[in-house]
Amino acid sequence: MTAGNTPSAFSGEVAEFYDGHTSGADELPTYFRRCATFQVRPDLKGKALNVLELGCGNGRLSVFLATEYGFNMTAVDVSTQAIQAAQDNARRHGARISFVHGDILSGDPSLGRYDLIIGHFILHEVVGTDFNRLARFLADHLAPEGYCTFLENSYFNAIYRWIREALPRERRVSHPYEYPFDPERYAILADHFRFVRRDCPAVNVAERFYRQFWPSRARTPWLYRWAAAFDGLLTWALPAAARRWVSYFQVVSFSQRPLEQP
Ligand SMILES: C[S@@+](CC[C@H](N)C(=O)[O-])C[C@H]1O[C@@H](n2cnc3c(N)ncnc32)[C@H](O)[C@@H]1O
Repeated sequence: MTAGNTPSAFSGEVAEFYDGHTSGADELPTYFRRCATFQVRPDLKGKALNVLELGCGNGRLSVFLATEYGFNMTAVDVSTQAIQAAQDNARRHGARISFVHGDILSGDPSLGRYDLIIGHFILHEVVGTDFNRLARFLADHLAPEGYCTFLENSYFNAIYRWIREALPRERRVSHPYEYPFDPERYAILADHFRFVRRDCPAVNVAERFYRQFWPSRARTPWLYRWAAAFDGLLTWALPAAARRWVSYFQVVSFSQRPLEQP
């Protein structure tokens, strides 16, 4: 392992934050399911690939990939509560997943090489020189024919970025070190991987605003459905190039081989 053997400068605080913020919702919601099926090429379904999930949280993505795709999943998280919730979730769904409790930057010798390295909302958690180490970690642990794919908060929706900066910290569910995945980190990935791409398979904006700004006491299933339907309409109406600037989420994929799809 060449990623260095010291944990990230912030991992202790990040672990503590997520010990108190691991979500109880353990099913993959429709939007995330749509993104996951975009991230994982359909021809890979049913192949016994070795797949690593970084920052697995309550394990819902790993459970989905183990049960629906038949992948051999290894899932890592730095938070004790997250690993506990993920193990419970895997047990409930009868999914066999190998869990590793630790910092992805600390150089765990039990991790090997993987055909696919995947994550939802983890790259943007790693900042500064730590991101360089993470990119090296990914390059070291990816099989030569494999690819990495991550669903991330996007830097490219300027309105959302502005609102995010304007919101008082107590209104945001985030720790001080995370930041939307930005051009600087795309450039670091390009130092380590020959092919890097950004996609926006589905617009997620109304749903995001609803969850972030609507008072929780006034939330109702029908309003949520309206927000999700509005996003569906935008996804249908906007060409791919426009979606990339409107959505709050993006899929970041990279590899040493040309990426067919995503
Ligand atoms: C925003 S949450 C996303 C959780 C999950 N992927 C999901 O979509 O529900 C980020 C997760 O990454 C984990 N994490 C953050 N930094 C990490 C690190 N350096 N090593 C391992 N896990 C980390 C956190 O503990 C947290 O569970």
